[in-house]
Amino acid sequence: MPRPRVFVTRRMAQEALDLLATELDVEVWPDDHAPPRDVLLKKTGECVALLTTVEDRIDEAVLAAGHGALKVVANCAVGFDNFDIQAATRLGVALSNTPGVLTKTTADLAFALILATARQVVQGDRDVRAGRWKSWHPFAYTGPDIHGATLGIIGLGQIGLEVARRAMGFEMTVLYYDPVRRPEAEETYGLTFCPDIPSALKEADFVSLHVPLTPDTRHMMGRDYLKLMKPTAILVNTARGAIVDHQALYEALRDGVIAGAGLDVTEPEPILPDHPLLTLPNVVVTPHVGSASLQTRREMALLAARNILAALNGREMPTCLNPEVLDGS
Ligand code: GLV
Repeated sequence: MPRPRVFVTRRMAQEALDLLATELDVEVWPDDHAPPRDVLLKKTGECVALLTTVEDRIDEAVLAAGHGALKVVANCAVGFDNFDIQAATRLGVALSNTPGVLTKTTADLAFALILATARQVVQGDRDVRAGRWKSWHPFAYTGPDIHGATLGIIGLGQIGLEVARRAMGFEMTVLYYDPVRRPEAEETYGLTFCPDIPSALKEADFVSLHVPLTPDTRHMMGRDYLKLMKPTAILVNTARGAIVDHQALYEALRDGVIAGAGLDVTEPEPILPDHPLLTLPNVVVTPHVGSASLQTRREMALLAARNILAALNGREMPTCLNPEVLDGS
């Protein structure tokens, strides 16, 4: 008798595929880009489980293509704005993400962007390679100090907190805004709570975004918020591109409203090569690689695989997004 099938929408760590293969027929989409919509719909109709990435839109139409046989969709990502959770819950499909395992790796990248943007690492490298660096000059490639500066963290979840911990090593003053105040983190790491986002934006030399993308946070960093930042400040985004209004950001950077931006996420992704932001020297853009360490990508794939097997075996899923599907409540 054929075994139930799982469709994995990208090549992933072999350990995770092997784990899935202990109980399921595993089909991996061989291309390095997302399967086209018609393929995703067709495969969903043949499978009990999907293992997806942030680029796969799992909306009501995809979930319904499972015709009741689809039991679980596991995202290989902590973010899940590509999922329609309400539709999944209605249709009885369990969903999961991969929190925890990528926290430190993503915080490392946020810090890399702080450093790269402030110290013009990328521009310097471009100039050296192009033969434009001719001599040492007291004013060349000078940016703000990171040590001793004030960092504003917007969203003190797991990743925001790890960024704060890294900032301690750089002797930074750390402010944070989060809808939920975290007195224990304030005490342990010397963080200062800001009652609203504007208070953090006004004070910070670096602003790092760590909120999920929701209807409330879409284009949250627009003209009004950017105007509140210091003209010397740098904005870093490792969360989701659409949290920032990119046209407003471009204008703010062009007009000196703020000094720089480090973006691991953009809207759209990939950002188009002729996007005006890419004409600016004070912007560093990386290709959505917050969690891209070998170990972390392996852990993410394994966690997604464990979620799938748990859901199919009626066990508690390690990181389920809609547990009410499983407990029948
Ligand atoms: C990546 O963006 C993730 O959400 O893990």
